[in-house]
Amino acid sequence: MQAADWVQQMAVYKTFDNGFEYIDIVNKSGRAKIAVQGAHLFHCERVGEQPLLWVSETSFFEPGKAIRGGVPICWPWFGKHQTDSSLPQHGFVRTSVWTVVDIQETDEHTTELILQLKSSARSLQLWPYIFELQLHVTVAEKLTIALTTKNCDENTFTITSALHSYFTVSDIDNVYIEGLDKTRYFDSLTKESIIQKGNTHIGGEVDRIYQNVRYPLTIHDQKRNVHIDAHGSSSAVIWNPWKEKCARMGDMKDDAYTTMLCIETANALDDARTLLPGDKHTVTAILS
Ligand code: BG6
Repeated sequence: MQAADWVQQMAVYKTFDNGFEYIDIVNKSGRAKIAVQGAHLFHCERVGEQPLLWVSETSFFEPGKAIRGGVPICWPWFGKHQTDSSLPQHGFVRTSVWTVVDIQETDEHTTELILQLKSSARSLQLWPYIFELQLHVTVAEKLTIALTTKNCDENTFTITSALHSYFTVSDIDNVYIEGLDKTRYFDSLTKESIIQKGNTHIGGEVDRIYQNVRYPLTIHDQKRNVHIDAHGSSSAVIWNPWKEKCARMGDMKDDAYTTMLCIETANALDDARTLLPGDKHTVTAILS
């Protein structure tokens, strides 16, 4: 078999009935699906295991709408825009159409995919800088997601961002996060700055930005532990909408909050990154 045939077999372009495109990767480590819109990884499971990433049963898979689940890319701002509330929450690249630039089958257990997004007339209206983004996804024993920002502008710019990972959990009541003890966080709900004491349990709506995070973090679930390691990031966002907010959201079932937990590898608040012309920055999440 030619190498090219092998690659084709292992990474297949597919579309939903409405034409929404994604790449379906299958190898001996597992399976992953990545939408071309947003370079949005929306499915990942290791062979013989429950899916690592959570995706809403009622998510949209439509042009211009963000997928609810997987790993949306929040960029070049995380959360609400600082000065203009008419601009989209979490920036615009999660709903932009990216270009697939490379798919490599490194070995039977490892597939690498690179997607790219460059500034355009539309992006310049939303954010006035010339940039190039690359998302490098490695589907192997571990799932590695690396987002590289290059400043191609003649001016310096500052970005905040997140690899907004939604993890599948068996039941939110039985889950805790290890690794954030004594770490300060900004509580986005109360606007307070608080120091975490002990492990993090989720017993209500949680929306926090932890700072000076010492990765790795671990989700302890009844049936398995999930490890989140990172490079190029010292902030992490923990989010669960809980009952009332979940019921208000149009793309989550009322009880969906019980089986998901977001731990987002971020560059947020003091961890914003300033890039001089020609500079690059890579933020990487390694999930296992
Ligand atoms: C989290 C934010 O990262 O994303 C929350 O901290 C937000 O405040 C959540 O509600 C979901 O955002 P969105 O735009 O995907 O609904």
